[in-house]
Order: sequence, then C-alpha cells, then structure tokens
Amino acid sequence: MKRPYKKTDLPVWQVRKFLEPGPIVLVSSHWQGKNNIMAMGWHTVLEFSPSLLGCMITSANHSFDMVRKSGECVINIPTADMIDTIIAIGNSHGPRVNKFTRFGLTPEPAATVKAPLIRECYANIECRLADRRLVDKYNFFIFEVLKAQAATYPAYPKTVHYRGEGVFMVSGKNIAMPEKFRKGNL
Ligand SMILES: Cc1cc2nc3c(=O)[nH]c(=O)nc-3n(C[C@H](O)[C@H](O)[C@H](O)COP(=O)(O)O)c2cc1C
Repeated sequence: MKRPYKKTDLPVWQVRKFLEPGPIVLVSSHWQGKNNIMAMGWHTVLEFSPSLLGCMITSANHSFDMVRKSGECVINIPTADMIDTIIAIGNSHGPRVNKFTRFGLTPEPAATVKAPLIRECYANIECRLADRRLVDKYNFFIFEVLKAQAATYPAYPKTVHYRGEGVFMVSGKNIAMPEKFRKGNL
C-alpha cells in the first residue's frame, strides 16, 4: 500500500504550484497596426467541439486591451529552448517595446485572424473571442479555435510549465495507456 504523506498547511495562494497546468504559451495580438506578445500560463481547455479555450489575461497587461478590442489572438506554443525569451516577453510591456524585434521572433500572417503567428513556436492556434461575458468581471476570455497548425516532429515537444516563484517544470516522460480508456474518453 502507498505510504501516507506527512502534510503541513499551505498558504492558499501557494496551491498554484500544484495546479497551474501550463504549458506556458505566447499570446500574439494585433490592434491598430501594432503587434504584441505576452506569456501566459493561466489557460484551460473548455470544450472539444466547438474547440473552446479559456484564458486569464490581467487587465494591467497591454495585451488585455489589444485582445479585447480586436476580439482575436494567436496562442503560440514555445519549447523549452526558448525559456529565456519566454521570461523576457513575460517581463516586458507592449507599448514600450516591439517584442518581435527585441526578441528576434518572426511574425507570420495567420489565415483567419489579423494577429500574427510566431514562426519560431512549435504550434500556432488562431483564436476568436467567442464569449466576453467574463472579461470585465474576471479578465477571463473564452476563445474559439478557428485554425491550428503544429510541427510534425517531435510528436510531443518539450514544453515549459510554470510553478510560480521563478520555478519551471519541463515536460518529460509520456505514459501511453489507451487500452484502459473507455471509447469516447480518449
Ligand atoms: C511564466 C509567465 C506566465 C505568465 N502568465 C500570465 C497569465 O496567465 N496571465 C496574465 O495576464 N499574465 C501572465 N504573465 C504576465 C504577462 O506575460 C506579462 O505581464 C507581460 O509583460 C504582459 O505584456 P503586455 O503588457 O505587453 O501585454 C505571465 C508571465 C510569465 C513570465
């Protein structure tokens, strides 16, 4: 039998280090002729079909206004080799810096939205704001995925997942057990 853990109380704000799902993504946006990028860890899948994603973008971020006003963005998946760029993007403020130029990233046109794809990222997910009811109250955006593309290799990229307090986890070993899933639950 599994041995019981010895446990201690946690300050409630510290639960993030166990729950934050990651991967850290880069959200690119476009508004009034300008592109921007932010780092984001607080996102979740909401539905398969239509493909819906929920994202928390703090209103203090320049990206908040850009995404709210344009009603669209691209969610780009960076890999672990981009960790320095991810941190730098997440610690700089859009209006003061062109993050594509500053961090050597390449904007590419998307098919369905004006926000650019980031060429250097493993995958690019084009999103349209599908429901803005939680934006003003919780800074929570519900997006519908309109189009997505991903690198063909590797099948599972090394992504980075944020645990808070400057600590990241890098995705690792996969455990494939499809035979244990009921049909439809995969
Ligand atoms: C690892 C990491 C994860 C982050 N996750 C989020 C997030 O989920 N939501 C958010 O609003 N800001 C998040 N941020 C902060 C923004 O990326 C940061 O404020 C950024 O500078 C905003 O840029 P902007 O003002 O140009 O939009 C994160 C930053 C880092 C480094």
